[in-house]
Amino acid sequence: MHPLLHLSETQRAVISTAREFCAAEVTPFAPQWDRDAHFEPTLVQKLGELGFLGMMIPEAYDGLGFDTVTYLLALEEISAADASVGVLMSVHNSLPTQMILKYGSEGQKHAFLGPMARGETLGAFALSEPDAGSDASSLRAQAVRDGDDWVLNGTKAWISAGGHAGVILAMARTDTPDARKGGKGIGAFIVTPDLPGFKVGKKENKMGLRASETVQLVFDNLRVPGDRLLGDPSLGFAYAMQSLEAGRLGIAAQAIGIARAAYEHASAYAAERQQFGKAIGEFQGIQFKLADMATRITAARSLLHTTAAAKDRGEPITEYAAMCKLFAAETAMWVTTNAIQVFGGYGYTTDYPVEKLFRDAKVTEIYEGTSEIQRIVIGRAGLKGR
Ligand code: CAA
Repeated sequence: MHPLLHLSETQRAVISTAREFCAAEVTPFAPQWDRDAHFEPTLVQKLGELGFLGMMIPEAYDGLGFDTVTYLLALEEISAADASVGVLMSVHNSLPTQMILKYGSEGQKHAFLGPMARGETLGAFALSEPDAGSDASSLRAQAVRDGDDWVLNGTKAWISAGGHAGVILAMARTDTPDARKGGKGIGAFIVTPDLPGFKVGKKENKMGLRASETVQLVFDNLRVPGDRLLGDPSLGFAYAMQSLEAGRLGIAAQAIGIARAAYEHASAYAAERQQFGKAIGEFQGIQFKLADMATRITAARSLLHTTAAAKDRGEPITEYAAMCKLFAAETAMWVTTNAIQVFGGYGYTTDYPVEKLFRDAKVTEIYEGTSEIQRIVIGRAGLKGR
């Protein structure tokens, strides 16, 4: 079990629990969910029962109170079985729950964190819009104060599990059209689907991660009670950016899980597939591919866990979180591409698992900030440091 990492007894137990859960509840069904683009709602309750939806929520709010390192170990396991289940777990644990925990009032924490930790309510994160992706602070959804309430109008896009979530952390402008303040004129609101004016819009038909439902959310005069505003009305973008650092660690763990699964399938196939009178794994051309896969995966995991440990010590990790996601995502894409090559023609068919892993890997270079955005974050930090 990850020999370089010095795992505690608890961490070994978490990994074993995740593996057993996946063997029984995920791996046998994932190919069919992928074919049908089926989001399996019972997973939320099952993950909740194991504590996997409250991994970093303190015990006082019914969570497990684990550190980031332990959470990421579980997330790698789940993602190795099915990246769609991985993203459900990553978004919920890294973004909405952490935002409420870090910036919410005591009342908000008590109202929302318990049900989220127990898996009774799934969380989602609504920052992007159809015209605001990489340039997230240009978002246009508008929040206007009306008495004690806020009234929100706009369309949020690419929302993972948005149609199944019970708690959505939604970013909307609180500045006015005549005095725009960029990233400093945005609030974060705790939206629930029961509020009048909440609608689930277009469902995306995706190349990968097909069992994770991705939708638009439409706010049509959505009336949000005043006590659902998170913290300061002008700091929602900063809260979202700060939380995305943890989010990017989660996506790095997901990418490592995908890459590891592809590597394991490729090495097992190389050991058994016979060509030219011997197993193809006996040819150096194949061995070198497997060696490079193992090296890149181990390097990605080492960077991730070093960064997560720094986060757990309370150190700033902005550029390192970006490095983790960038390197892990590119590793996942490289490893899955080469895993298909090891399988040859069979790898190109849906009879073998590597084509799904390849499709699932691609999104890790796109969501929670593209690889280009991660390079911007890393580059800016380097320039600032000089
Ligand atoms: N921590 C805390 N505050 C931060 C911050 C951080 N890491 N980054 C920015 N801020 C705050 C600061 O207050 C900052 O102002 P100062 O620099 O004066 O302190 C303010 O926000 C504005 O920041 P920037 O000027 O850096 O903003 P920008 O408009 O230049 O954008 C960006 C920076 C890095 C390009 C950012 O827009 C970005 O990360 N884009 C990618 C968007 C993204 O990751 N989307 C993910 C969607 S969610 C998703 O995918 C989830 C899913 O479902 C899987």
